[in-house]
Amino acid sequence: MCGIVGYIGNNSALEVLLSGLEKLEYRGYDSAGVALNLNDKIEIEREVGRLSGLRSKVSTKEVLSSADIGIGHTRWATHGGPSEANAHPHKSDHLALVHNGIIENYIELKRDLEKKGYEFKSETDTEVAAHLLHSIVSDEAITPDKISELLNQVVGSYAFVALSDKDKDTLMVARDASPLVIGVGEGENFIASDVTALLEYTKKVIYLEDGDYATVKRDAIEIYNSGELVTRDIHEIEWDITKAQRGGYKHFMIKEIYDQPKAINDTLSGRLTDSHSNFKLPELDNLTEEIKNLKRIKLIACGTAWHAAQVGKFYFEQIARIPAEVEIASEFRYKNPIISDDELLISVSQSGETADTLAAIEIVKGKCPTIGVTNVLGSSITRNVDSFLLTQAGPEISVASTKAFTTQGLVMYLMALKFASLKNEINEEQLAKSLSEVTHLSHAITEVLEKEEEIKKIAEKYVDHKGFFFLGRGACYPIALEGALKLKEITYLHAEGYPSGELKHGPIALISPDLPTVAVLQSEEPHFSKMLSNLNEVKSRDGKIIVITDSDSVDEVSQVATDVIKVPYINHHLMPLISVIPLQLFSYYMADKLEREIDFPRNLAKSVTVE
Ligand code: M6R
Repeated sequence: MCGIVGYIGNNSALEVLLSGLEKLEYRGYDSAGVALNLNDKIEIEREVGRLSGLRSKVSTKEVLSSADIGIGHTRWATHGGPSEANAHPHKSDHLALVHNGIIENYIELKRDLEKKGYEFKSETDTEVAAHLLHSIVSDEAITPDKISELLNQVVGSYAFVALSDKDKDTLMVARDASPLVIGVGEGENFIASDVTALLEYTKKVIYLEDGDYATVKRDAIEIYNSGELVTRDIHEIEWDITKAQRGGYKHFMIKEIYDQPKAINDTLSGRLTDSHSNFKLPELDNLTEEIKNLKRIKLIACGTAWHAAQVGKFYFEQIARIPAEVEIASEFRYKNPIISDDELLISVSQSGETADTLAAIEIVKGKCPTIGVTNVLGSSITRNVDSFLLTQAGPEISVASTKAFTTQGLVMYLMALKFASLKNEINEEQLAKSLSEVTHLSHAITEVLEKEEEIKKIAEKYVDHKGFFFLGRGACYPIALEGALKLKEITYLHAEGYPSGELKHGPIALISPDLPTVAVLQSEEPHFSKMLSNLNEVKSRDGKIIVITDSDSVDEVSQVATDVIKVPYINHHLMPLISVIPLQLFSYYMADKLEREIDFPRNLAKSVTVE
């Protein structure tokens, strides 16, 4: 939520800030703003709405391009609606500040500051931080000890970047529970909420840790934590800028849907032996004994990652025969969970920065082993778990998650196979068969993508309907949930996912020609026959049915379905990761037909780094 960029160097800060904010717009797009030190005076420009508004505003003021130090922000509103007054940066006399996160004690702080004579122009918690910092530094430049004083008074989560017209050679930064990275250049340095904003300029980054604050100058970076100077490693980023670009596609979402065959191959890469009879997950080597003695797995996640975790639950239970529970992180963190040391926590998160998921890990830490499944190296999850496995999906920019889901599913499939072999639940022959089958996943997804035109036509045919049911059973029930979430997020149409056996316990009352049903029908018995009966019940009530199936009995399916999308069969465990692709395309093309802002759906932001 909210994107932050900072620049100090010898080039135009404005250029770098706007280009960085463009890459971070997926984090929030209610308003945007920049603050630049121009001839020892801070100039602030802010605009409501997408970054393009700010771009055209600043394009009329050529002088701004000459500043070589500045900060920028793209906002997802928390305190106060989208307005110019609430847009960042916020100013207090000689200093300006941008912030991502939430200052929980802002009301008390504001009361004290008002008593001291500070006047507030916005409804934000961030303006409180700006005035508080000013009340600490007064007329002086901002120094590390002053930042430390600020942090001691602020309760909540934050990533801050500040600059002052008293010092045109320094940016001040701080982070706690909100992501912030420093990009290391030559004679110039960068700051951003995540590395995608920096890829154009540098591949060298420093991930700040919780409680870190730093001074960033053109040729020097000094990082402190609790009053001490600390050293943080410089990491080399492997992603390149083309991976974070649309590359000719109309939207990031469709590009990322098409990235999936490669993302699957990249996630598998280096893991399988040449004969595909064995595989490597060295990330789990330090937990071998714990896995052998494992009694239960707890999976925690939010949103699409939560759906992937539900697919993972099937893998751990069906393949490794380990009981697994899936918890929504925001619920788990407040339920005083019962955890024993023969359990394992697996947290699943594309960004590795979701606040609720991080809080859930914090609760479990030290009580049982923790594993993270994430797409972002250096993200907070990677630093807070005992071991982590990376999905190799590349940057996922679209707010609607697609390739993260399929690669998360794949990683958990491999983990389940590993657990199964460690617990002797699977023999060598079965393992080799499963591993050989998984090598076909990428190709199966490509085959589904080749049906794009067919799926597009079906999506357009149903575009006038106002609501949809998504049904699935077993491991395809989470796919029904995911299909419904995708549709909601980008079309704003109502959609509900149900396990199909539950239909007659209430929801069937809603079935009518106006409410089509999208069914994920796997060929595996007994799910196939049971679900076909459920679909007959829908048909008998004049419901239209779109079926996604891996069954070869297409004629039989066609007797109940209005439309059928046939997907390849590999094995029933991999069906969820194949059948989700038509649902991604279905939502995409429906949203496109409805002319929605697909990459920037209303009210949403990519990374939910606040509660
Ligand atoms: O980065 P994470 O995987 O932790 O994000 C979790 C959810 O916020 C995310 O999956 C969200 O539901 C997506 N917008 C779904 O498309």
